[in-house]
Amino acid sequence: MIRILMVCLGNICRSPMAEYIFRDMAEKRGLGDQFYIASAATSNEELGNPVYPPARRKLYSLGIDCSGKRARQMTKADYQEYDLLLGMEQWNLNNMRRICGGDPEGKIHLLLEHSARPRDIADPWYTDDFDTACRDIQEGCQGWLEVLDNRQ
Ligand code: 4NP
Repeated sequence: MIRILMVCLGNICRSPMAEYIFRDMAEKRGLGDQFYIASAATSNEELGNPVYPPARRKLYSLGIDCSGKRARQMTKADYQEYDLLLGMEQWNLNNMRRICGGDPEGKIHLLLEHSARPRDIADPWYTDDFDTACRDIQEGCQGWLEVLDNRQ
């Protein structure tokens, strides 16, 4: 089983969307039992809060219910708990390396790393563009799922 932690700044928009979308994609491919997926924040701004309503609605439109999710902050212990820690943008990666005391095992990567156009996922908390964020997250999850499925 591969353990993946999706990480963003607040854990109420992008990383919960990535958590639920990746899990849904894996389940639809019959690979649900090969992955354990969770998400967390680099900041403590939104601790304990549910997924932000526009992100929740976006997931709901894909047939995904994320009502049980509450934001939590990542800790250094997550580095040992997970095989991969996927950030949404370079700034997340910097914060993740700071929290983890570096990345000695090369576990910290960008969600959109396996894309024809690797890039940051803009924060919809600021852009208000949840459609683009969702499409980018789907592209990122698809890329990682293909790479990891071929690796196993
Ligand atoms: P996220 O968006 O990192 O995609 O969850 C944000 C949500 C909340 C805040 C920042 C980003 N905030 O500062 O409260």
